Amino acid sequence: MCAYLIQKADLPDKVRIIPIHICRPDDIKTRLLGMSKPQTTYIKTHDFAAKAGQAVLVPDANGDISCVLFGAGLDNGYANSALRVGSLAQKLAPGFYEITSAPKDMDINLMAVAWGMGAYKFSKYLSKKPMPSTLVLGEESDAVESMSIVKALHFGRDLINTPASDMGPVALQGAAQNLADIYGATLSAVIGDDLLAQNYPMIHAVGRAAHEVPRLVELEWGDKNAPRLALVGKGITFDTGGVNMKSAVGMRMMKKDMGGAAHALALAEMIMAAKLPIRLHVLLAVAENSVSGNAFRPGDVLSSRKGLTVEIDNTDAEGRLVLGDALTKASESDPALIIDFATLTGAARVAMGPTIVPFFSNTDAPIAALLKCGEQQFDPIWNMPLWSPYMSLLRSPIADMKNSGSSFGGALTAALFLQKFVGVKGGQKEQAWMHFDVYGWNPSGSPARPEGGEIMSVRAVYHWLKNGGLAKLD
Ligand code: BES
Ligand code: MN
Ligand code: ZN
Repeated sequence: MCAYLIQKADLPDKVRIIPIHICRPDDIKTRLLGMSKPQTTYIKTHDFAAKAGQAVLVPDANGDISCVLFGAGLDNGYANSALRVGSLAQKLAPGFYEITSAPKDMDINLMAVAWGMGAYKFSKYLSKKPMPSTLVLGEESDAVESMSIVKALHFGRDLINTPASDMGPVALQGAAQNLADIYGATLSAVIGDDLLAQNYPMIHAVGRAAHEVPRLVELEWGDKNAPRLALVGKGITFDTGGVNMKSAVGMRMMKKDMGGAAHALALAEMIMAAKLPIRLHVLLAVAENSVSGNAFRPGDVLSSRKGLTVEIDNTDAEGRLVLGDALTKASESDPALIIDFATLTGAARVAMGPTIVPFFSNTDAPIAALLKCGEQQFDPIWNMPLWSPYMSLLRSPIADMKNSGSSFGGALTAALFLQKFVGVKGGQKEQAWMHFDVYGWNPSGSPARPEGGEIMSVRAVYHWLKNGGLAKLD
């Protein structure tokens, strides 16, 4: 059960459901046929032209709302997609609503998810909690799936929106533990100095200056005979930049630097709720990049789980360090695929803006199908190259590599750095791996994406997995 979506069968008796008609400009004439004269006049005086986002609450003879007309605009892609419906969840007064007519191209399941996405409000610290408006879902929709997708997205957004004072390494592990408990998964963690004993030197180095000690959190779930999928998440609960400290502006949003971990957990929840035939291994590289007398420094040389040595060029390029050790660990179980999510580079934002998620893959097989899922779900992703010659930008005179270099192609060099820590099967072929450099944040609100923490690219990946993506890997 969630407060924003409900199955018709679960509705209390005698509850009033207000119908919603979603129209494109061409549909208005037909829509008006069933209306009374005063209603038609009312709609006309409100200038309803079915422009994208336009909404009119049409009264009946008693002055009660008889239905809602909602404009979907012309059919021209993302802006006028099913995601528009999210704005209704924000606009309409608390009550029960049902979409009784909509343009053919607008999928009811996507509209349901959009409603749930739009209805989200981070209310943990508000003394007055908002009241939700609820969308009623009939037999024609897959209500259970839409609800669990929405639940997972809200869970992930909550993790990102929660400030670092309440979402440090301990709390982030706690959130993963709660999820594991709900779905019968197993959780384990390597904490603090145990990271050194068990050979995760880079996670330890990044997190050792913080009051709450760093950790590698692992969640395992699913049928032992199913293909293995590893989900790796960057869980920097706050990124000060370390000794190479960020500016005030650069640091302001850095509570969201555990966004990759939130993405991995949200996707894990979708997979577990749907009971996809997958053996899941989630690895969260959790640390706070802080400053203290024992902080790692520029010029230090770290060893890594893989054995490669890394000269620290900049302590603010910390995500790739913690992920490096986690990717090596993920590879050791020989999964069919490793996917990592990380708020890794500012450069990815310069290239793509906040909404489009660039992803990198060392195997071509899944790319076309993944892009298609992104388009269908209006969850935009874009493929970027692992251009190996740029690895020269990370050359170090005293170690195997350094963790940052020139500002050229910053998202690409970060991805190339990560690639070095992905395992090689039988000394031959690199393990299949994908890397999503997410922003994890909506700088301003849009219909299905309220301002603040956001889970992006995960719906695309979930649908690709559900369509049997893992089985189609070479
Ligand atoms: N967490 C940041 C990247 C980031 C910054 C993501 C702003 C989204 C918004 C990451 O740890 C970082 O600081 N990266 C540096 C790397 C640089 C020092 C090579 C960056 O992108 O500036
Ligand atoms: Mn950083
Ligand atoms: Zn960071």
